[in-house]
Amino acid sequence: MSKFEDIQALTAREHAEFEREFKKLLSTRVPLANNVIRYFLDRKGKQLRPLMTFLAVRLLGREWNNATIQGAVALELLHNASLIHDDVVDQSDERRGAASINHVWDNRVAVLMGDFFLSKCLEASNRTGSLEVSRVLCEMVTRLCEGELEQMSNARSHRMTEEGYFSVISGKTASLFAACLKVGALTVGATPDEVDRMGEIGEKMGQVFQIRDDIFDYFPTNAQVGKPTGHDIAEGKVTLPLLYALKTASPEESKKMFALLDDSSQLTTEDVNLIVDFAKSLGGIEYAQARMKQIGYEARKVLNTFPDNEGRAALAALTEFFMEREK
Ligand code: FPP
Ligand code: MG
Repeated sequence: MSKFEDIQALTAREHAEFEREFKKLLSTRVPLANNVIRYFLDRKGKQLRPLMTFLAVRLLGREWNNATIQGAVALELLHNASLIHDDVVDQSDERRGAASINHVWDNRVAVLMGDFFLSKCLEASNRTGSLEVSRVLCEMVTRLCEGELEQMSNARSHRMTEEGYFSVISGKTASLFAACLKVGALTVGATPDEVDRMGEIGEKMGQVFQIRDDIFDYFPTNAQVGKPTGHDIAEGKVTLPLLYALKTASPEESKKMFALLDDSSQLTTEDVNLIVDFAKSLGGIEYAQARMKQIGYEARKVLNTFPDNEGRAALAALTEFFMEREK
């Protein structure tokens, strides 16, 4: 199994049910909200989170049920609520290669629509009938918020360690991937040990996903990747390639870079390009790629503690896809 479409095809039946429930839950009597929802549904993304929830069920060799679908709906809603809010926080006018909700409408609409998605997530979570699922979701949302806040305070100082970087990406991205596998497993009666191992796999897959995402930022905008080069740097975010370069460079060189970063609200395109080139010339990309592969390998090792089946092969292929994807 290699192509992303092949992995998706494996869960086509549950995905169709998911789509029906997702749309049903998002209905509202308010025309403005309906306009935003329609705009959002036309640009809905790859829907990796429900896919992971369904693959967790496959990995256990079980059959999905209504709680699995509701859990997947809750996770996808939460993911999208967080992106809608993130674009307000980052003052970003683009999402998935199109204008963000805050840009088409405004911050007030985006904040309230993010809240609307979040409340619908809670409704879907209730529909699973599982307090355990609710607990996993609550813990994850807390970690998401903590990750974002940690990233924000790091963006102010720029003196980040690799440990700090991993703490941020674990919070803002990996916690959600971990929750996807755990929720899928919980809806089919997995044991606590199975749920824990699922969490570990999801956590590592999420880190792989985020490191790849952070590497994208160092390359020219490609029509497939919905954001411009150096976007993170312009937002004051120090990610793994730059972090490595700052650690490896001579004291004079890093001092020069810190001087630029510390005044990141004033960065020109030339400054951003200079920082991108600095990170690349010191081997930052190769280092980030090596770390990503190492974590992918660790994910695979935990995955292999489960019996060999189509779910295991699909999750292994999905990890590979995360490392190689171009968007
Ligand atoms: C994208 O990161 C954003 C996230 C991974 C999480 C955002 C989380 C919040 C705003 C807090 C929690 C939200 C709710 C609804 C409780 P990025 O900015 O690095 O990536 P991008 O390029 O996709 O914007
Ligand atoms: Mg953002």
